[in-house]
Amino acid sequence: MKDVYYKRLLDNASDLIWAMDLEGRIIYVNGRISEWGYDKDEMMGKPLLDILNITHMGKKVSEPAEPGVTRKFDMQLQDNTGRLHRVVVSSSPLQDDDGQIVGSMGIIHDVTATHNLEEKLKHEERLASLGRLATGIAHEIRNPLSSVKMNLDILSGRPGLDGRELEHFTIAREGVANLERIVTEFLDYAKPTPLTMRRHNLHKVVEETVAMARPYWEEGGVVVSRNFGRNIPTSLFDKGKIQQALLNVLINAIQASKNGGLVEIETTMSSPNSVEVVVVDHGEGISDENLKFVFDPFFTTKQQGTGLGLSIVSSIMKNHNGSISMATKYGEGTRVTLEFPVR
Ligand SMILES: Nc1ncnc2c1ncn2[C@@H]1O[C@H](COP(=O)(O)OP(=O)(O)OP(=O)(O)O)[C@@H](O)[C@H]1O
Ligand SMILES: [Mg+2]
Repeated sequence: MKDVYYKRLLDNASDLIWAMDLEGRIIYVNGRISEWGYDKDEMMGKPLLDILNITHMGKKVSEPAEPGVTRKFDMQLQDNTGRLHRVVVSSSPLQDDDGQIVGSMGIIHDVTATHNLEEKLKHEERLASLGRLATGIAHEIRNPLSSVKMNLDILSGRPGLDGRELEHFTIAREGVANLERIVTEFLDYAKPTPLTMRRHNLHKVVEETVAMARPYWEEGGVVVSRNFGRNIPTSLFDKGKIQQALLNVLINAIQASKNGGLVEIETTMSSPNSVEVVVVDHGEGISDENLKFVFDPFFTTKQQGTGLGLSIVSSIMKNHNGSISMATKYGEGTRVTLEFPVR
């Protein structure tokens, strides 16, 4: 009775419990191992370290330590289903009744979730400090830039300039305008202005945004279709910001589409108190590798892009207590969902 009880307790423990002999062969594992795609009975007598595909590790676990000493190792391993786990393995010597060391035993504690969270926080901290630095630089660029612009205007207004000289001024002015746009967009992202919340009809705002994107869809030969949900109430949001967010997403979708492609905009109530604006394209899609970076400021795969579009969208949605999410298939297309509460 007692044995059954202990067995059940071990099998249902939240960590993986193991024991191996002096040769490193498994003499016990608990039921947790099945979650990693292994058959518990088949593992008996096999070398634990060979079965668990260890991709990174501090020190060997199989060496028996001093009696009474527990060692801990931080490692990464790949389970039988191909998933990677970050784990902490603790190991202590296994002794028989006479005190002889006959192997080792321990616990494998899965810390993948905490580890991922830590990595994400580190990444965000790094972005935040980079952001502060870049904001400072952007401010410093702004003043000399307006002086360059002013002086260009004065010089280009001089009488007697020939066509070629005027062309040089036009190129210089375009360069300045481009820089100004990047700096303004960046500062807008880094230091967003407070929201002006008013009640608006979402569909009107979508229509206006599609009109604003006209130069893009006309030039790209792309058709933008609308599929508006019924019963979408007017709602409080910052019209300018939501338009800016939608415009960025729409332009991305158009830019990803081939000539003659279709971009679909759908609106639905995703819950009784939140609305979704979905933009679907059938363009190039995003590779898994790139998908990790699309929300990072300055990440772009475009020659003319600044890579601020989606960073701005994400900050606008956050300020509206909403969110942006992306589903994509490389080579097939992308679906971007903007969601925010209706109030
Ligand atoms: N609908 C989409 N289809 C395919 N790739 C996309 C799509 N939307 C975004 N991307 C990818 O994400 C990257 C980042 O997008 P983001 O809008 O932030 O910057 P950008 O479009 O490159 O430049 P910017 O918007 O500042 O002009 C793009 O360069 C592109 O690789
Ligand atoms: Mg963009």
